[in-house]
Amino acid sequence: MRSLFLTTGSSVSLFEEKFAGFTENAYAVGVGSCTDALYLACRYLDIKPGDEVITTPMSFIATANAIEYCNATPVFVDVESSTGNIDADLIEQHITRRTKAIILVHLYGQLCDMKKIRSIADKYNLKIIEDCAHCIEGSREGIKPGNVGDIACFSFYATKNITSGEGGAITCNNSNSYEWFKKARLHGMSKNAADRYTKKYEHYDMEFLGIKSNMSNIQASLLIHQLGRIEKYRKRKELICQRYDRGFEKNANIRIPVVLRGTKHARHMYTVWVNSAMRDIILHTLQDRGIGVAVNFRPIHLMAYYKKKYGYKLNDFPIAEKIGASTITLPLYPKLTDGEVGYIIDTFNAITSNT
Ligand SMILES: Cc1ncc(COP(=O)(O)O)c(C=O)c1O
Repeated sequence: MRSLFLTTGSSVSLFEEKFAGFTENAYAVGVGSCTDALYLACRYLDIKPGDEVITTPMSFIATANAIEYCNATPVFVDVESSTGNIDADLIEQHITRRTKAIILVHLYGQLCDMKKIRSIADKYNLKIIEDCAHCIEGSREGIKPGNVGDIACFSFYATKNITSGEGGAITCNNSNSYEWFKKARLHGMSKNAADRYTKKYEHYDMEFLGIKSNMSNIQASLLIHQLGRIEKYRKRKELICQRYDRGFEKNANIRIPVVLRGTKHARHMYTVWVNSAMRDIILHTLQDRGIGVAVNFRPIHLMAYYKKKYGYKLNDFPIAEKIGASTITLPLYPKLTDGEVGYIIDTFNAITSNT
């Protein structure tokens, strides 16, 4: 905060280097949000009107909106009932000659089946964009976010595992895309302000139409230190999740998403799936007892915009709809005390005991 340079400069470069190192990807580019990262990823892949992009309905709207911004068509594929992640076995039947890419989401912090999805993408010459808004620290069979896909997009929004209030990053393993993203986040300019003012003044050119979504040094300074603590935070959240799992073991009225063998869960969210007829009552009762809750997510295809534009209706994606109607996210953050966790378990079990 004491440094002269508040916009994109050396703190952003340092964060990018550390973030690329942490996720074991070659390059990272700091941007304004994960939404912008997803949009820029689609732009880099030249996704345009007439193209189709396969994605999941069980996500925050940003995932599909990125496709809409390019005037391309999102093609939803239903999800696994065990994890809520896109069902890799259903992807192939949705591929047409217009399909250009797959945007998947590592829901709640658990990686999708990247090996299977990569092999499908390679068979049909498709690109993969990973929406890693929930998953910085996760891995599956040794694969980390961004390692197998072509481009990965991260969020540092207020609720994320590390945060600068708003913020995002793109990782990639290809120097051409890296150079493109560095320019695309700043109008497509050939030089940024730090290039111009920390050395002898150099004129800039605008090489293509980018957007204004550069990470600032202020955001990077907040993130650098949190990245150093991210594993410590995750370990604490893992313990809280294990305690929730044990606490809900005997509750026959709920289901908990499965954590697959060989997976390190990033523990971004802890969700439970309750009786859908009772979900909103349970949600409101938890709030009345002082417990913070959220719904992650009501499926995208049933949002008014998507229903109106594409004619989606109930039963189009039954598993995503079932999750969307029954899901409740419980509090999960490192400073949650053991006493608070106990209170949440007892209160939740009491409320759901006759549902
Ligand atoms: C799965 C998913 N993708 C994308 C986003 C968008 O992130 P941002 O707010 O950084 O644009 C979110 C945000 O909550 C999200 O949960």
